[in-house]
Amino acid sequence: MTARHQAHVRAAGFLGRALSFELSAVQQYMAHAALCEAWNLTDEGRHWREEAAGETKHAERIIQRMVKLGVVPSASQLRPVKVGGSLGELIAHNVRLEQDIVSLYSDATVTCLRGGDSDNAGFFQKLLDEEQEHARELQAWYESSTGWSST
Ligand SMILES: [Fe+2]
Ligand SMILES: [Fe+2]
Repeated sequence: MTARHQAHVRAAGFLGRALSFELSAVQQYMAHAALCEAWNLTDEGRHWREEAAGETKHAERIIQRMVKLGVVPSASQLRPVKVGGSLGELIAHNVRLEQDIVSLYSDATVTCLRGGDSDNAGFFQKLLDEEQEHARELQAWYESSTGWSST
């Protein structure tokens, strides 16, 4: 296998995992939007719905990249949705989800760079920056919401 082919296979593997993560985030944020609405937390429900839309855009970018690389854009397995009994619990699940996504993009960026694949490294780096910001925002929301509950 040539170095170029190896880099391609590695990038394709990360893209497949990334797509599964982003789609898992979409279903989790949609579920949390519905839960918050059921609790009459309308603003919070709207917030999670906007998050779902943001993650859908990430999934779309990944699918476009996969098509460009000649990879079939299909996610493997979605993570089970994590629910909870209060807004604080939902935010905590989402902070963890975003942290896992940050780890994946960090790993993907470093691995592509080491393999001399600066094009895909750049692609993952942009997603990494956005998800780091996202994780920070959720963490801040979590800290400011401590003590909130759905009841
Ligand atoms: Fe995302
Ligand atoms: Fe995110």
